[in-house]
Amino acid sequence: MRNFDFKNPTKIIFGKGQIAKLKEELPENAKILMLYGGGSIKRNGIYEQVKEATSGFEVVEFSGIPANPEYEVLMKALKVIKEENITFLLAVGGGSVIDGTKFLASAALYEGEEPWEILTQKVPTTKAMPFGTVLTLPATGSEMNSGAVITREETKEKLGMGGPGLFPVFSILDPEVIKSIPSRQLVNGITDAFTHVLEQYMTYPSGAYLQDRFAESIMQTLIEVGPKVLNDPSDYTAASNFMWSCTMALNGLIQKGVPTDWAVHAMGHELTALYGIDHARTLAVIAPSHYRFNFEAKKEKLAQYAERIWNITEGSVDHKASAAIDRTEEFFNQMGIDTKLSAYTEDYHGTAEEINKRFTDRGWTGLGEHQSLTPANVEEIVKMAY
Ligand code: NZQ
Ligand code: ZN
Repeated sequence: MRNFDFKNPTKIIFGKGQIAKLKEELPENAKILMLYGGGSIKRNGIYEQVKEATSGFEVVEFSGIPANPEYEVLMKALKVIKEENITFLLAVGGGSVIDGTKFLASAALYEGEEPWEILTQKVPTTKAMPFGTVLTLPATGSEMNSGAVITREETKEKLGMGGPGLFPVFSILDPEVIKSIPSRQLVNGITDAFTHVLEQYMTYPSGAYLQDRFAESIMQTLIEVGPKVLNDPSDYTAASNFMWSCTMALNGLIQKGVPTDWAVHAMGHELTALYGIDHARTLAVIAPSHYRFNFEAKKEKLAQYAERIWNITEGSVDHKASAAIDRTEEFFNQMGIDTKLSAYTEDYHGTAEEINKRFTDRGWTGLGEHQSLTPANVEEIVKMAY
């Protein structure tokens, strides 16, 4: 096991009816900017719950943060923060609203010229405006981590940012919000969380038995409750296990002391930036090809995953590892997710070369757990995913 530091300061308030607790968590005398998306919260009752819980506070609203939070829209919110002397941000939404809020928390205190630099120059956020979240869509883990991904339509870029200043002060997780989520988004959530675990697990054995078993238990739980949630989003037992699994998949715990990959996300973000494909679906497109391409380097963990997750116990390491990749692809397909890029766009020719060029230009020349995956390798993987 590798050495590690672990600190996660986010307070989680989990369970039915917990949105009412907002009033206990918001700082007194705060001037709050409540941020949300395209309006789902107005149709499912979450807006009313938040309004009621914040009724004693001074709250300004900013709505319209789109899926894949867009820089131009966020810059409008930044103007509101400055003009209204906002002191606390409250995100009410899924990963997009929460990530957009993280960008704003950082940009509000940024002293450089143009806040886009936080993303292009990878400026770590050590200090930010404090913010809390009310999670409406389990998927990304953004409610308990310090990362964010922001899109800029103008340049067709989607870039990450983060830093110790970007943990939410608190996050309210009420599994009942799942009732109104369309099945496409539920499937996305299961797939995203599952792939987050894979990115932190599918590397090479590192003697971290407990981290492996944390990771495996999250995948097993997602496999068990995923179909139940899809079948009946008001099944509270399934919903609560699904929600907590998504948070645990990316709150930092399972990556401590182990090598991590994250190349699937790096490639996937480009597919969203270029074609607007849902984040989770880009991961399902890239992951099978990524594991096939990197088979030799990953086969021991793939075989362990085959045995412990999919009960593939017969045959050689190579056989089990290969069957596990097929089984993973089947899992995505069974939920209705296409795992080939050509199913999402007719314009896919040239995508692999374009991503090679982008990674080369950005100096992303060594991805993966061995920092050995070159832009030319990335081009091959993306081609395998056509
Ligand atoms: O905008 P509204 O009207 O609210 O509708 C949203 C949106 O259209 C809807 N929705 C959310 N909660 C709902 C609901 N509809 C009905 N009932 C509810 N309770 O769902 C749609 C998708 O929402 P979005 O927030 O975009 O989804 P998700 O949570 O999957 O977030 C995706 C974003 O997070 C980033 C992705 O790249 C993408 O931009 N990620 C963030 C990460 C992080 N910060 O750690 C890690 C991830 O790997 C990921 O990259
Ligand atoms: Zn993800």
